[in-house]
Formats: sequence, C-alpha cells, structure tokens
Amino acid sequence: MADELTAAAPPPARRPRVVLGVAGGIAAYKAVEVLRRFTESGHRVRVVPTPSALRFVGETTWAALSGGPVTTGVWDNADEVAHVRIGREADLVLVVPATADLMARAVAGRADDLLTGTLLTATCPVVFAPAMHTEMWQHPATRANVATLRARGAIVLDPAVGRLTGADSGPGRLPEPAEIAALGMSVLARGADGVRPDLAGRHVLVTAGGTREYLDPVRFLGNASSGRQGYAVARAAAARGATVTVVAANVALPEVAGARTIAVTSAAELRERVHEEAPAADVVVMAAAVADFRPAAPQAYKIKKETSAPDTIALERNPDVLSELLVNRRPGQLLVGFAAETGSPDGGVLDHARAKLARKPVDLLVVNQVGNGLGFEVADNAAVVLDTNGRQTTIDRMSKDLVAHRILDLVVGFSTDRADGTGVEPVRVPVRTPR
Ligand code: CTP
Repeated sequence: MADELTAAAPPPARRPRVVLGVAGGIAAYKAVEVLRRFTESGHRVRVVPTPSALRFVGETTWAALSGGPVTTGVWDNADEVAHVRIGREADLVLVVPATADLMARAVAGRADDLLTGTLLTATCPVVFAPAMHTEMWQHPATRANVATLRARGAIVLDPAVGRLTGADSGPGRLPEPAEIAALGMSVLARGADGVRPDLAGRHVLVTAGGTREYLDPVRFLGNASSGRQGYAVARAAAARGATVTVVAANVALPEVAGARTIAVTSAAELRERVHEEAPAADVVVMAAAVADFRPAAPQAYKIKKETSAPDTIALERNPDVLSELLVNRRPGQLLVGFAAETGSPDGGVLDHARAKLARKPVDLLVVNQVGNGLGFEVADNAAVVLDTNGRQTTIDRMSKDLVAHRILDLVVGFSTDRADGTGVEPVRVPVRTPR
C-alpha cells in the first residue's frame, strides 16, 4: 500500500507555450500577475492584448514581463503570419480579462484583431476569465455568448462576486489572478488527457478544509487539513464545466476561480450549509476533515489559568454529514467521501478504508495514507479510490490538481456506468477543444 501511494512523480514535460490574451477592461492590470505566475514557473508566454487593452496596461509592461514581442493587429509582422501561428502553436490560451465585447466577437468568429484571430486558429484548451459589470454579465446577450463558448468546448469561468470598479458590487469581478493561473496550469498539466467539459450543466458541491470546535472564544480543537485537495477538486470541476459550490472550513487559500465559496468554521455550520446546498448538487465531494466531536460545554469567556484547574474536556459527538447525505440523497446524486488513514496494529490503510466504506457506502471513497511525506500541507498527493462495486483504482503520486482530475474521471465514469441508470448522463463534447 505504501508503495502504491508514494510512486515517483512523472518526469517534467517540455516548456508549454501559453498565450495570454488580454481584452480591454479595467481588470487588465490583474492579468499582469497572471503573466508573472506563468513566467516564474517556467512557461513561455506570448501576450496578445487587444488594442483597447493597451489603454489600460501598456505594451512596455507586457513586453518586459513576457520577454517577447507584443503586437495587437493582424497587419503587424505579416511575414510571420502571427494570427495563424500563435494560435496553432499554443498549448493553452487564457483570456484575462474576457470582456463582454471580446466574448461576443469570439462567438461571431470575427478576426478583426490578433487575439480574435488567435482564438480562431487555436486547437488547444481555451480559458476565458470574464470580468465586467454585473448588468453586462447578466445580459441575455452575454449569457447566450457564454453558453455558446462553453458548448464549443471552451472553459468560461464564472466571475467572482464582489466589489467592481465603481461603487457597485455583484457578480462580475475577475477571480483572483493566482487562482486563474492555478487553473490554467492544472489544465496544462493534464497534457494529452486534456480537459473536456464533461461536467457541463452539472452542479458539484465540494467541502474542503478542516472544521474548528471552539472551547472558548480563542481556543479550538481542530485539524491540519489545508483544504488543498478539496480546492483542487473544485478547480478541476470548474475547468470541466461544472457549476461549483465550495463549503470551505477555515481554508487560508485564495478562492477557487469560477466557484462560489461559502466559508464556515465549525462542523455544525458545515453541516447546515451542506444540507442547504446538497439538494441542488449532482455530485457531492466531502473532502473536508470534519470534527467527529465538539466540546460539550463551550465557554462564552476566555478560560483563565488562574481560575480553572487542568481538567478533562468533555466532548459530544457531531452528526456525520456524509451518512446523513446517504440517507437523504436524491436519485442520481453521486457521493464521494474521503478517508485519511494511517493504518494501525489492527489493520492496514485499505483494511480501515474498506471498513469505512462498509459503514458509509458512498459511491467513491478516496483513501489517502497520511505520512510518507504526503498529507495535508504538501502539494502532491496519492490515493486509492474504492467504489461500492468493489473496484479499486490507484492514483500514483502526482500534484493535487492531477489527483483531482483523476477523481473526477472516476466520477464521470461511475456516473455513466451506473447500473440503475440514475447517474449523471454523459455530456457529448468534441474530441478536440475548439476555440
Ligand atoms: N465526515 C462527515 N461528517 C463528520 C465526519 C466526517 O461528513 N462528522 C466525512 C468526511 O468529510 C469524509 C468522511 O466522512 O468524507 C470521513 O469518514 P470518517 O469515518 O468520519 O473518517 P474519520 O473521521 O477519519 O473516522 P475515523 O476516525 O473512524 O477514521
């Protein structure tokens, strides 16, 4: 088992070519951070701004930070036929920010500047990170354009909700640049496996992080879960076209681009929010480390050492959310549990996991061995996934993003081969991701 979970990471591939398209919106300045993330992690980036993007951030900035030429028109450098070559050679095209106008032009198949020309010739995955005022995002024209781009296989992230350029606030804010870069890198990391919108039209609910059970206003019983694997599942699901809701327990990571995040603290809060959200979910992934117990008598005021003697903390049991979901699940809903195991004198990691699956017969149980340099805070993971039909799939050591995609591969596969026909229907998508 230890060997299964700690196999060597795959060798690095060649330096991928990324095209960073920048449309003319105020969030263009945040694309600078996306560019830096890619160049600092060794990617070759060609920045292709639209002419109006240069009104927000100038050519010098893009050229200096990318180390490459920056042109905007189809008439520039005609000898290198840039409007065809850049798209053809790209491994990933990322448009940050994607404005309403840019997406409308992409839908219409226009090629009136270098960026739209590039979108017409790209055969690699294309990610749009929209940013605009709420009214523009919600306008039927934009809704239809987003739906068309998604139906053609592009990844269009949902914008974040928050403060916009003026005094207004609502959906339309660019997701965090670090998270856009992380999502782009997770798409690239899939390589030949690709990222297809096989969860388009599905709602995926993910819990992540670790709950805290407060003893008094400043002290709590908690656990070391960072939320990284849960966030990676959310990121992968968003990239595969799902509508994603994350219930995040004490996660200190930027919110996942394209997902709605609900922050919670305790197991009771997590339970409440999960039960609110689960009825709408086609897939629930319970990656959070939920406390099994809470202090029976939490104190309203800070416990003082002068006035209280060392004592035993009385605990009471928290309800098991996953077991409740199993009882209440709606037809076709797929449940994924997580089990972090160390093994014990009574049995190995998989023995404990199989016993857990027998107690909580979820569709898929993702088993992590804690230890061996793997676990909560590290970037890599490895797992064995057990399913209710007795199948067992080993996921070798790889990044948490890739582990997340492998888990979702199993989710999609499991849904489509469910004998009762209640599973998530397969979504028909083109084999190559068109622009
Ligand atoms: N879980 C839950 N509600 C709880 C506790 C855990 O929904 N109150 C979920 C976790 O999100 C995870 C799975 O159940 O998906 C973990 O199973 P569990 O048997 O609770 O694991 P442990 O807490 O590690 O149990 P044990 O201590 O018995 O190993």
